[in-house]
Amino acid sequence: MPDRADHPESTGVLFVCLGNICRSPLAEGIFLHQARQRDMLDRFRVDSCGTGAWHAGEPADPRSVAVAAKHGIELPSIARQFDPRRDAAEFDWIIAMDRQNQHNLIKAGAPKDRVRLMMSFHPDPPVEEVPDPYYGGPDGFDKVYEMLRVACEGILDDFA
Ligand code: 4NP
Repeated sequence: MPDRADHPESTGVLFVCLGNICRSPLAEGIFLHQARQRDMLDRFRVDSCGTGAWHAGEPADPRSVAVAAKHGIELPSIARQFDPRRDAAEFDWIIAMDRQNQHNLIKAGAPKDRVRLMMSFHPDPPVEEVPDPYYGGPDGFDKVYEMLRVACEGILDDFA
């Protein structure tokens, strides 16, 4: 099992939503893209997961794939459920898309001091939580993309 203690040279960042098919795979893809653009990719270990297991094994939702592709970004994610023991050992930052995810992560055993809300990295957050776009139309995915884009830049700025 990879352990963050074995990787003092890099920071483990785990993006978390409910299903791990809409928001967190998009956040993961955007973050990887921006880190690559800034030549900072080797400073991070990046993954995403869901608090729920319903979509485990699935690629990202086609609407997240489409909005990412519009911006030249590929989404490598295959959905999986948060694993408290493994993920707490591996990741320095566990970044929840909304308060329900944050609550469920901590309830499942994530170390509270390492769990953050995604929008806390946004310099001028329009909302506190990244809304779940799953049941809405494609414009919801565009809005989520824009929030995630700015919040991911905020995370990288913290490490710059
Ligand atoms: P996500 O969106 O948490 O951003 O991946 C959802 C995906 C699936 C479901 C809910 C939210 N679902 O109920 O299946």
